[in-house]
Amino acid sequence: MQNRNFTIKTLSLLASLSLFCSELNAEPQRYHIGREVSSSEIALWDTDIKPSGSGLPPGSGTAAQGREVYSRECAVCHGQQGHDGPFNALVGRLEDGDFPFATDPAAKKTLGNYWPYATTIFDYIQRAMPLDRPGSLTHDETYSLVAYLLFKNDLLSEDTLLNSNNLAEIKMPARDRFFPTPGQDIPELDVLN
Ligand code: HEC
Repeated sequence: MQNRNFTIKTLSLLASLSLFCSELNAEPQRYHIGREVSSSEIALWDTDIKPSGSGLPPGSGTAAQGREVYSRECAVCHGQQGHDGPFNALVGRLEDGDFPFATDPAAKKTLGNYWPYATTIFDYIQRAMPLDRPGSLTHDETYSLVAYLLFKNDLLSEDTLLNSNNLAEIKMPARDRFFPTPGQDIPELDVLN
């Protein structure tokens, strides 16, 4: 009797195990959450802007135009002057040759003292900012914002028209602070160095 009981229990355990396994192998179920991603949403993320400037979209803008866009879209978080907001400072230079970040944890990294490529500023702003509405800026607005932030960092004159042809030519102060690990093959960077 005891043996029979044992057999029945074993069989039912095996049965529920195999049920469990067949559920695991079953076709994926629909959970009725989320929605299909639209092609315009994919296009927003599917960009590939390199330090050399390849991948930059058409468009242009000056610092003078960017000033107004910045006040409207960015100043609330980054401050009217670009270094006086609740979030990351974007504006600020150091003495030429200074790069204290490895030894001074209080040193503020900004676009002007830390970012090696101006093209990355475009890429970042276009895909990620403003924080609460990423992807809402037109290409012209982003060019004008990059121009304005470079101007505020004393890296561009106020009336220079920035576009896909001249953005990569701007040499950022921290450019030579970053280099590929020796032996690493990054053709895009070779173009620049
Ligand atoms: C609602 C607040 C908010 C707004 C509005 C906003 N930002 Fe930001 N921004 C942030 C935060 C927070 C970060 C840091 C994000 C992180 O580190 O992941 C950031 C990071 C950045 C950075 C990178 C800074 C660095 O050195 O890492 C740039 C450049 C930038 N923002 C530009 C802009 C521009 C240009 C606008 C206007 C179009 C804008 N942001 C609007 C909150 C904001």
